[in-house]
Amino acid sequence: MPATDAALSHIPFPPQQPLVGNTLHSLRDFTGLHRRAMAEFGDVYRLRLMGKWRVAFTSAEAVEYILTDPDKLFSNAQGWADALGHVFPNGLMLRDFDDHRLHRRIMQAAFRKPAMDSYLSLMAPELDDLLAEWPVGRRFGFYPAIKDLTLRLGAHVFMGLPADAPEAETLNRDFIDEIASTITVVRKPLPFTKFRRGTQAHARLVGRFHALVEDRRNGTAEDFFSQMCRATDDEGRHWDAQEIADHFNFLMMAAHDTTASGLTTMVWALAEHPEWQERLAVEVAALGDGPMTPEMLGAMPLTDLVFKEALRLVPPVSLIPRRALRAFEWNGIPIPAGSYVSAQIAMVMRSPKHYTDPDAFDPERFSDNRAEDRSHRFAWAPFGGGAHKCIGLHFSTMQVKAFTRALLTRYRVARADTGEVVWKRIPIPQPRGGLPVTLSPA
Ligand code: HEM
Repeated sequence: MPATDAALSHIPFPPQQPLVGNTLHSLRDFTGLHRRAMAEFGDVYRLRLMGKWRVAFTSAEAVEYILTDPDKLFSNAQGWADALGHVFPNGLMLRDFDDHRLHRRIMQAAFRKPAMDSYLSLMAPELDDLLAEWPVGRRFGFYPAIKDLTLRLGAHVFMGLPADAPEAETLNRDFIDEIASTITVVRKPLPFTKFRRGTQAHARLVGRFHALVEDRRNGTAEDFFSQMCRATDDEGRHWDAQEIADHFNFLMMAAHDTTASGLTTMVWALAEHPEWQERLAVEVAALGDGPMTPEMLGAMPLTDLVFKEALRLVPPVSLIPRRALRAFEWNGIPIPAGSYVSAQIAMVMRSPKHYTDPDAFDPERFSDNRAEDRSHRFAWAPFGGGAHKCIGLHFSTMQVKAFTRALLTRYRVARADTGEVVWKRIPIPQPRGGLPVTLSPA
């Protein structure tokens, strides 16, 4: 049972709009809404979003408590179900406790070092080819271009399809429909709704993956899907075809939109700060020619700083939802059983408690001598933490580094417009207007 209004009545909340509560406020101005609420109420308050009260926790200490969950209080599955349950019902993030641990152990096999090295060797040459097709000296939207690129790359590295396969196009459209259905106001598959398009896309995708399993399990291909078909945990357990299809469907979603969003923030920052672009170009040039190797990843410390700062400023996942299975108390505030709670990682990462001038782009804040992110274990947590910490953290860093090398070896990037870039933060951040840019030869 959800916590009743009466049980939550002691928790303050900002002004509401009829019917939609704070949903539209949150979609229009996520950071402004939370900053105003924090200024008025402190670190804990509630918002009415998508028809339910959700208690927001905005301190690093509370984020640590929720994500590491020492008292086994919080359900991931119930926290994410409203947004993701209809299209990603059995994904890793929608599983709890022992069941989650079992499935995560099997998925881990697809992220071991030899598998990661083979993804890099599949990814890097494809990235070069895809980037070679980008227009020089002509304005284009970076965000739509990087979405298309990461989806094509995903079809290749994750599924073993050629990046220009017509099938990649269909798969991509279905993924877009799945994701678009996660935050629509109508939450039933009524005709002509995004929700229905999402559930239909889900059925097509899962059916498609299911049909591929037998072949891939018996083959030797190195793409991600094939690795997942053969993956086992230490006791030799592996998944059946339906489980593989469900996990893979979720993984494609978790992998591509987040990385595309992080890369958009990074390229926006590099276009705004050409001195950093030059520093990364020098770092990339020092790697020399030839195919990208795993050793090169360790020789890109400045790229690490810039990527970390991009994820701090505009984290691809702004908040992490959970549901309290039992009542608990936080700093003397009783939180009833059944409450929907959210770990507000984006707000922690913009907090002056942890970061000097928190709205400024300043990658050096992560350097060893400043190390602002180490002011608290959860001061920088774009990949979450605890049992559900992002399993693709190293994969996405690898992809970002391979992309940065391919981009800056060929091009320099500049914004095609002046004026502030406004980010639509929910569900996954994207710049309004698509971030028009122009490329010039390096
Ligand atoms: C910049 C890129 C990325 C960001 C910011 C990001 C962020 C996150 C966050 C915050 C979570 C935790 C959610 C929770 O606790 O409920 C998560 C989980 C997850 N991520 Fe990522 N992610 C990124 C890229 C990727 C990639 C590239 C993959 C796969 C190759 C991936 C696969 C997953 C999976 C499978 C989970 C669920 C883990 C679990 O529940 O045990 N992510 N991600």
